[in-house]
Amino acid sequence: MQWSKTESRARFNLATSGVAPFPLRELPVQLETLEINGDNSYGYAPLQRAIATHHGIDPDCVVESAGTSMANHLAMASIIDPGDQVLIEHPAYGPILDVARYLHAHVKRFPRTEETGWVIDPKVLRDCITPKTRLIVITNLHNPTSALTPDWVLREIGDIARSIDALVLVDEVYLDAVYERTPRTSFCLGPEFVVTSSLTKVYGVSGLRCGWILARPDLAWKMRRLNDLYSATAVYPGLLLSVAAFKHLNLLREKGRRIVEADRKLLRDFLIQESAISAVWTEWGTTSFVQLLDGNADDFLHMLRAEFDTSAVPGRFFEMPDHFRIGMGVNTEMFAEGLNRISRALS
Ligand SMILES: Cc1ncc(COP(=O)(O)O)c(C=O)c1O
Repeated sequence: MQWSKTESRARFNLATSGVAPFPLRELPVQLETLEINGDNSYGYAPLQRAIATHHGIDPDCVVESAGTSMANHLAMASIIDPGDQVLIEHPAYGPILDVARYLHAHVKRFPRTEETGWVIDPKVLRDCITPKTRLIVITNLHNPTSALTPDWVLREIGDIARSIDALVLVDEVYLDAVYERTPRTSFCLGPEFVVTSSLTKVYGVSGLRCGWILARPDLAWKMRRLNDLYSATAVYPGLLLSVAAFKHLNLLREKGRRIVEADRKLLRDFLIQESAISAVWTEWGTTSFVQLLDGNADDFLHMLRAEFDTSAVPGRFFEMPDHFRIGMGVNTEMFAEGLNRISRALS
């Protein structure tokens, strides 16, 4: 996170993970209807309903949070006690590991491998659990690879968790970047599932910090009470704007989608042409995880930034230092020139 805030910028910035910012002027909202203060204690009812309707679930299962970041924190802090075993995918989005460690969990890992397309193998997962495992944590789509975990695998993960009285936390912040036949949230697959998400990555309104957790009502209450320690209540105008964003969600999503799809076409040609790198191909998602077949990816990215004013995310942040992550969906002209510069740097 620190690297991304302070060192990721470049003229050709491919170190992104979400779509371009959606501007306020394009959101059909009457600014004079905004207000600074208003009724909001344990959740702003219209937003809670909008999130529940979006997922087709009961509003009692929705906990509002400041982005998926706070959602992951609240979810894990409400579920695990110090010393509990938490089983987290490898490679993983760093802050998820950091939260588990911050909570003094005993962190264990299970591998997703490139050879098998980064999919989760339930047999591998089964071998990694112990009676002490309290929580299994995955991202779907997977950050950094954008691999999609299908429902049948999620169901098996749910069965594994149930067999040891554990829960499954699924971070779905990228899931709506499956633009065709978008899967339903895994929360609907059983009571052992807890889900986190936000409007950050796929909808371009990160600044609203509109995040949420889906959890069964007793756990949801624990999370709302815990949030009393952190945020007390949310920024009220942000809640109003978040409700407006939900009213026009398709407008936001389609805008990002057009850029992601144009970028993906360029990425496909680029990956076919470049023999010095390889990546598992996906038809969805906003990121691609690329392996540099020869040489050190960190050195390569330093050179890419210094000499070609182009950035991508070093794989070391995902514990895979011979890889780097490329982000789609911000600006196709910039993306095309960024890929062009990566090609030049590779040669
Ligand atoms: C898997 C994952 N979860 C959560 C986040 C943070 O999301 P938010 O901006 O909603 O806090 C990110 C951001 O990169 C992410 O990749």
